[in-house]
Amino acid sequence: MSRIVHVNGAYLPEANAMISVFDRGFLMADAVYEVTSVLGGRLVDFAGHCRRLARSLDALEMTNPHPDDGWLAIHREMVARNALEDGMVYLQVTRGNPGDRDFAYPAPETAPTVVLFTQSKPGLADAPAARTGWQVITIPDLRWGRRDIKTTQLLYPSMGKMMARAAGADDAWFTEDGQVTEGTSNNAYIVRGNRIITRALGQDILHGITRAAVLRLAAEAQMEIEERPFTITEAQGADEAFVTSASAFVMPVVSIDGTRIGTGRPGPVAARLREIYLDEARRSAV
Ligand code: PDD
Repeated sequence: MSRIVHVNGAYLPEANAMISVFDRGFLMADAVYEVTSVLGGRLVDFAGHCRRLARSLDALEMTNPHPDDGWLAIHREMVARNALEDGMVYLQVTRGNPGDRDFAYPAPETAPTVVLFTQSKPGLADAPAARTGWQVITIPDLRWGRRDIKTTQLLYPSMGKMMARAAGADDAWFTEDGQVTEGTSNNAYIVRGNRIITRALGQDILHGITRAAVLRLAAEAQMEIEERPFTITEAQGADEAFVTSASAFVMPVVSIDGTRIGTGRPGPVAARLREIYLDEARRSAV
């Protein structure tokens, strides 16, 4: 079945969906995006994704094309038109098409480009990888300094995933000044006893929507939370490690640069957080 894609208000078969070659999203990666997971046909953590979208647009002086209820209506329409049960809705807003290539921003009245598409992932919440865990490698964080803005500049994260694949691993963790920043497309955590350690929010990592929910639920479950950077050596000596994202939820990490973490099997804290998070995600999905 051909997907129905949203382009600037129109719902089109994917083969008919087009944007200009002069679009700044295409030429300059002058664009922001969001990925919202869908479980049982409903949107997970939707309000959080709307808030972060507004923040990213604001940081780049781009006008938000829709109020939150407008975004919700479009997302729901996409889920319905694509009969999406489990998967993701991808949303991208670019600074639009000024009609030519120019480094300077176009006039503010230039219409943004809005694109949404769905990705069907049956059984998304039952990923077999959650039972075995991911192996990660570490690589230097060579991304720009505003990683808190969710832009479509994803070349280095793509390179990181390819480096991980070449090393026989599942993903890569970025490091800067000897400390872990985050994963290529997820936030990174270690566990010591009842304590969860993860880097504090700043301009050096993306403010994960799943991160916010997981930390809130962990605090409610009487776990201790320490927001500070950690080194690879500390991570390798931790009891457990895991990552969070809208597509992986809570995913255990069982080795870092070939060093086994804890028992080398997904640990109880990550397993518990995954279960609590998925329960809450389903309960609060809209
Ligand atoms: N990635 N850090 C980075 C660099 C990310 O790209 C992502 C999300 C996260 C986790 O954020 P959230 O919990 O809001 O998904 C952290 C998405 C899933 C992607 O690019 O596909």
